Amino acid sequence: MKIARFTQLGFILAAAGSAVGLGNIWKFPYIAGENGGGAFVLVYLLTVLVIGFTVMIAEMLIGYMGRLDAVGAFEKLAPDNKGKWKFAGFMGFTGLLILTFYSVVIGWIFHYIVITVTSLPTSVKEAEASFGQLLTVDIGTQLFYHTLAFLIITSIVVRGIKSGIEKMNYILMPMLILILAGMFLYAVNLDAFSKAWEFMFVPDWSKIDSEAMVTAVGHAFFTLSLGMASILTYSASLPKEINLKKTSLIVVGLDTGIALVAGLMLFTFLFEYGAEPSKGPGLVFISLPVVFYEMGGVGTLLSLLFFVGLAFAGLTSAVSLLEPMVQYVIDRFGLSRIRAAFLAGSFFYIIGIFMLLANTDEFGAALSFGGKNLFDWIDFLTASVMLPLGGLLMALFVGFVMPRTQIRAGLKDAMSERGFALWYLSLRYIVPPALIIVMLNMLGMISFDLIMPMFIVAYMITGIIAYGHHISGAKN
Ligand code: TRP
Repeated sequence: MKIARFTQLGFILAAAGSAVGLGNIWKFPYIAGENGGGAFVLVYLLTVLVIGFTVMIAEMLIGYMGRLDAVGAFEKLAPDNKGKWKFAGFMGFTGLLILTFYSVVIGWIFHYIVITVTSLPTSVKEAEASFGQLLTVDIGTQLFYHTLAFLIITSIVVRGIKSGIEKMNYILMPMLILILAGMFLYAVNLDAFSKAWEFMFVPDWSKIDSEAMVTAVGHAFFTLSLGMASILTYSASLPKEINLKKTSLIVVGLDTGIALVAGLMLFTFLFEYGAEPSKGPGLVFISLPVVFYEMGGVGTLLSLLFFVGLAFAGLTSAVSLLEPMVQYVIDRFGLSRIRAAFLAGSFFYIIGIFMLLANTDEFGAALSFGGKNLFDWIDFLTASVMLPLGGLLMALFVGFVMPRTQIRAGLKDAMSERGFALWYLSLRYIVPPALIIVMLNMLGMISFDLIMPMFIVAYMITGIIAYGHHISGAKN
């Protein structure tokens, strides 16, 4: 089956569009705020560099060499070709689960674009009340915007890789970067910028614990779009001559850079007006709108730019969450793209309705179990269990199942012998233990107190091995 190919720039924008999303601008600042800033940011950066970058190359490689939907790619690349690894491809389903709440949150953002031009809240109390009202009472409003998000996302995926996904990213990504750059320039000139800088980059180690470290690893996967075949599916449409290492580096760099810029900017605004950094998920929906109100006229403009940018970031990610299942249904069952997109789309749309109901007063109790409501369960299960599991499967598949010569051939021009040996080592011996430790912890099988020592020991051992390989000229 012939798949349309991205241009090189088109792929970079689409992959960065997938990576840069609500995770960067909404989630990263609030989890950094909750976990005390600096030390957390450092652990996150280290994870992105060591684990994220390694897995990104592996995931791209599977798509690039497989040239099929996720299930087909695993099937094709398993050496005995018996399809034993086919199950791994079903990780694409995680995307639909993520979309059930992702689409609801994009809906909140649409609502806040409207609030910006109608009436920003004038005090924290009022902001809390109106966000609370939206989530717990206003089912109709949420349903309306969730439906709008579903229609936009699905109709772009219907148009396919070239005239849907690539085109959207060609337009929205440069606009997003311009918006953020403009807002960032404004923030740099405010007094509180240095305080925000200190909050983000000066580590206070007393504030970090094992739980924060696990959160950092989970978030590294989420923000880079790893572990559920988004990147894999896009990579099946890569142009033939592409340097996977360089491309990964650019995507990881853009994603990380934008998260840091968004964090610095948000904290500057918040500190400038004396708001709290540790407000949780409500940070951009409660504290920020009040700050924008206090800024006066320029605040309205900034607010509009911010929520429009956030919507762009969310939508370009959302299409990448839907595409893997759509491609799978097309390849396997020969459905037309439009049918496949609406089939997969209605899944997340309908479950998404239950997700939004789970936050309401009326239906919340019925949709809660084991101390969490449905919304929080799916968020937790996907980000903390399914994505690391997907990443682990990909690392094991490329690291131990695919023949080394085949992988080396795929990365021939992208890496020197030495670079390749280091990456391969990280893929085999650093990524899997780290992910297994994180997952065991998530499932409650090891205590938080043990994580830190286990990480340190695991990294020391693998570090020593890696160093040994490196200086021995990496013949492996
Ligand atoms: N990375 C996006 C964000 O930061 C979300 C996302 C898109 C994603 N595709 C993904 C997360 C695949 C995990 C896996 O908001």
